[in-house]
Parts: sequence; structure tokens; C-alpha cells
Amino acid sequence: MGKGWTKSDWRAKPRVQMPDYPDQAALNAVEAQLAKMPPLVFAGEARRLRADLAKAARGEAFLLQGGDCAESFSEFSADNIRDTFKVMLQMAIVLTWGAKVPVIKVGRMAGQFAKPRSAPTEMIGGVEYPSYRGDIINGFDATMEARLPDPSRMLQAYTQAAASLNLLRAFSTGGYADIHRVQSWISNFTDEDEAARYRKVAQQISDAMDFMAAAGVTSETAHELGTVDFYTSHEALLLEYEEALCRIDSTTGLPVAGSGHMIWIGDRTRQPDGAHVEFCSGVQNPIGLKCGPTTTAEDLKVLMAKLNPQNEAGRLTLIARFGAGKVGDNLPRLIRTVQEEGANVLWTCDPMHGNTIKSASGFKTRPFDSVLREVREFFDIHKAEGTIPGGVHFEMTGKDVTECTGGVRAVSDEDLSSRYHTACDPRLNASQSLELAFLVAEELQDRRALAKAASL
Ligand code: PEP
Ligand code: CO
Repeated sequence: MGKGWTKSDWRAKPRVQMPDYPDQAALNAVEAQLAKMPPLVFAGEARRLRADLAKAARGEAFLLQGGDCAESFSEFSADNIRDTFKVMLQMAIVLTWGAKVPVIKVGRMAGQFAKPRSAPTEMIGGVEYPSYRGDIINGFDATMEARLPDPSRMLQAYTQAAASLNLLRAFSTGGYADIHRVQSWISNFTDEDEAARYRKVAQQISDAMDFMAAAGVTSETAHELGTVDFYTSHEALLLEYEEALCRIDSTTGLPVAGSGHMIWIGDRTRQPDGAHVEFCSGVQNPIGLKCGPTTTAEDLKVLMAKLNPQNEAGRLTLIARFGAGKVGDNLPRLIRTVQEEGANVLWTCDPMHGNTIKSASGFKTRPFDSVLREVREFFDIHKAEGTIPGGVHFEMTGKDVTECTGGVRAVSDEDLSSRYHTACDPRLNASQSLELAFLVAEELQDRRALAKAASL
């Protein structure tokens, strides 16, 4: 957050993964219109999330970040938002049980519209089209017209984000998130035969709540049990949109991204001298940085210095996404780089983006076992290095989709075609998400045991 930074400085830097809008006048008009809109989030909320993430970096909290790979205009509905919110709350309780610390809930929601792509064009039915880049940029349909970048899509994305956030705020405080309701949903899941192995944990959670109620602690007497803090996040890819929603925080006088509480820089846009790093360096929100197999120690040093020059806790989250079997080759070297620099970071694990494969039936998928294996490798390496595994980052939905294979309800290759709805990458469905939470909770119990032993 250097002095003299302005929200349009990124324009002088090399940019990748961003569209070339054919109609400059239309783009300018949309930017001007967005710049007049209210921000979606309040700077004080972003600061509170930073403080929460600082706790996670110290092992005093745990981050659960999750949601769609890409939000879309066509799948937008109150039910979809509710279902993702609902499964995240269930996961959070299970994780809280494992970690015995608060779980910070951050949705990939209300702004997760722009997608980086591996190639600028794609072949569909023998015809080469510009790649689909997310609903905020162009359309999914395979026509040249749909694939043309259209700036007015930014206005529709803003409106959808505002409506989503409004509903999320209502769910968070309006009674829907009451811990007793959430606990009963978890019990329903573990009542089913295939989830029997998680029943004991669900029973322990239920017993703990019965005990608290008997002691007089209920959502009527303790406000915290009836409401939750829920934050939003997305990849800050489309910088015209980000710049137009950037505001000056009246309390601190510092710039803040008004598009979401936390924004992150993707694996393909983290060039230290590039436009995306430049923009994110100047806003005071918590920033995520994806770290993949191609992240070098040199780049990481420069990026940490640029993104967190004051080395503030909670400012920078490193999101490791190496792929199962590759964590051991990459995470230790980057952990050591962080330590050499004395940098304050929160380490989290995205076990999705390094584990995408093409199934025999032709669908892009992720095997549940690979996702779980990467999470376990992440925890094991932190254990070996004596550092803190502070969170997880999932692509998931509350719907019963068939996009990732495996899990207790065993989605097979052949099942993928039945409910494959993602606009981009394959997501864990509700049952797979909750199951993963139970398995991560086991790892967290281990983390706690270690911390306890260390403090003796
Ligand atoms: C994503 O999070 O959807 C994504 C594209 O991730 P990455 O930049 O790590 O590939
Ligand atoms: Co994705």
C-alpha cells in the first residue's frame, strides 16, 4: 500500500487473461456507471476479516473458503445461494469441532465471475471460438456473438453480486444460521447408511450442544449461536471492474476494493510486475495469492514484499494448489522461503486446481481421493516443518451435482453426465463437501494435539 498508489496504475503494466473490449466507448460508459454505484462491502468488514485471518495464521482460527469455480447468470437463484451457504455452515461446525477454534467462513460468492483460461481459443464441434472467460466477460454459448467480450455484463454481475450479498447477510443474521438448525442438518446426513462412519462425531457435536443448552447457553441467551459472520471473495481478474468499485475508506483514508471482502490473485496472473499484482498491492483488503508448482522462491519473495510491505498479519494468504503427489516437492521449499523472509502469512490448501483430470467419459473431473490426499499432504508437511496449516479452499456447491468422482455416495465416471452443471471447473457436491469437512476435522484434531503437546 505504497504512497502515491492510484487505482488505475495497473493500466501501465503488462496484463494477461483480460479481454480486449471491441467497443471502447461502451466500456468507458460502464466503468463510469459502476464507479457511481455503492460498494458491495464496507471497509470495516474487510479489516475485521484481516484480523480474523491473522488469528488463523497463528492457529487461533481456521479458514474455510468455498463456492463455485465460476458463478453464472443462468444458475443464479436464491436456492443455489442458500444451499451453498447451508453446506458451508455445516462444514464449519464440523471443522470447529475438530480444531476447537473459530472457523472463518468466506464464500467464493457474490463476485466470482471472471475466469483465467489455459488457451485464448477453444475448439467446439470442429470450430475455433474465443474461450469463454466467465459471465462477467462473455457468454458460454458456442457462437462468435456470445463469445465477444461485452462490458454491459459487468453491470449484470454487479447487480447479481449485490443481490447475492443481500441474501447472504439476511441468512447470516436472520435466524437461518442458528447453530441448532445447522447441527440437525449434519445429523440428517450422518443418519444415512453410507455416512455411518461420521456418526460418532455428529453425536459428540450434538451432545456438546445439549450440554450447553442445559447450562443455559442457547441462541436466545448467546447471540453468537444464532448468527454468523460470512464474508465474500473472488479472483480479482477483471481489473476494469475492480478499479470501478475501488473506494477510499473514510475511516483510514486508504483504498479498499469494494467488490468483495477478500480478493485473490490466480496462478496465471501473479507476474510480480504485472497488472494484477499492481492493483492488489494498493488496496487494504486481505489478499490471497495462489501458489502452484511454477511459483519460484524468487517470485514469492518479490510478491510478499509487494503485497505486504509492512508484513502485517492477516494481509496475505498463500493458497497452495500443487496437486496430490506434488505437495512434497513444492510446499517445503516455499515454506522455507517464507521463513527466510520472516514473512507473516496464512497458509491454506486448495486441493482442487492441481487435481483436475479428463474422465474416460470425456468430462473434466476431480477424484475425491486426490482432493483428500492433497489436503493430507498439506497437513503432513506443515507438521514436519513445524508451521501452521491454517485453512482450506474448495470449489463446491450445496447442490447434488455429479462433477467430482468418489465420496461416500460414490459418483462414478458414468454418473458425471447426469448432473454436470458447472460453468467452469468441477465442484464437490453437498455430500462430498460435508464428508471432506469430517476428514479435515480429523487432521485438525491432530493439529490440536500437536499444539497442546508443544505447549506442555
Ligand atoms: C480458481 O480458483 O478458480 C482458479 C482458476 O485457480 P488457479 O488460479 O489456482 O488455477
Ligand atoms: Co476453478
